[in-house]
Amino acid sequence: MARRSFILGTGSYLPERVLTNVDLAKMVETSDAWIQERTGIRQRHIAADGQLTSDIATAAASRALEAAGLTPADIDLIILATTTPDRTFPASATAVQAKLGITRGAAFDVQAVCSGFLFALATADSMLKQGLFTRALVIGAETFTRIIDWSDRGTCVLFGDGGGAVVIEVREGEFAPDEGIITHHIRTDGSKSDLLYVDGGVSSTGTIGHVRMEGNRVFKHAVANISAAIEAVLDETGLTSADIDWFVPHQANKRILDGVAKKLNIPEDKVVITVDQHANTSAASIPLALDHAVRTGRAKAGDLILSEAMGGGFSWGASLFRL
Ligand code: UT7
Repeated sequence: MARRSFILGTGSYLPERVLTNVDLAKMVETSDAWIQERTGIRQRHIAADGQLTSDIATAAASRALEAAGLTPADIDLIILATTTPDRTFPASATAVQAKLGITRGAAFDVQAVCSGFLFALATADSMLKQGLFTRALVIGAETFTRIIDWSDRGTCVLFGDGGGAVVIEVREGEFAPDEGIITHHIRTDGSKSDLLYVDGGVSSTGTIGHVRMEGNRVFKHAVANISAAIEAVLDETGLTSADIDWFVPHQANKRILDGVAKKLNIPEDKVVITVDQHANTSAASIPLALDHAVRTGRAKAGDLILSEAMGGGFSWGASLFRL
């Protein structure tokens, strides 16, 4: 008897406050035209004062539970991908657990920056298939704007706050190879950490620090690494880009998405793009885009979804699943 994980529902949440490119142009030397042309971003959402990553994660998780027709009592695993936790410890996932009123199972955070959601999904999928838990909330949530240097135009225009979540459940039986959550390919290369990092931390400076990035160099690695991860996933499954119903990439820069889609012959109308609405929300961006695709009626039950991400570390990966 085999075990396979299935996605039962998706949810997302964006904070109310919107900061447009025009607003940003009043803060730093930039323009709406430059930001749109170089990134595809039009606006980003900013968490309210006192609104924590765990609040955003809990809102997204509640919507995913509702979509799945489940209650918090049905969940025994929470994995939260975040780079902007509420506190140094405990894991913000435990705050989500408490806010949802869940008193069993386990909750922990995963740190893989913009690739975090895919690392969390791969971790939850593995744990479920191993029989350790039954139903998981996999969440990506960030208050990323709290680690932004608002005087650095090379980074401050790129990021936003938000959260997204999926509920997954393990089932036992006989399955076709392309049912449910099919496979993941996750990678890191620690030798490239100086190209994208935060210049603070508990054991280094004792401060929170700010995002530092050599955007141009990250960009070049992004297209190559993401394409390689996707090719690994397709090679493993014997599927081709023509089999994919929806491409749901990490939303960092529309030019990266276009570059990857072109390289892999994925038609434009199969690419889910939400970066214009919420900018790069790091670990939250894939589940935000996925939930958008589901709630707008584009992605439907049975559709084959290819997802990818690349971020600090470097970390990167790709996942393939059927809704
Ligand atoms: O999700 C995590 C992974 N991160 C990413 O995927 C981000 C990857 N990188 C990028 O998305 C792009 O590299 C950026 C959007 C960050 C920058 O775009 P670019 O086309 O690579 O521009 P660039 O860094 O080569 O800069 C071009 C010019 C520079 O001016 P000079 O030296 O040519 O005079 C910059 O100083 O654009 C200037 N510039 C800006 N101008 C107006 C940089 N930021 C801005 C800005 N507004 N906000």
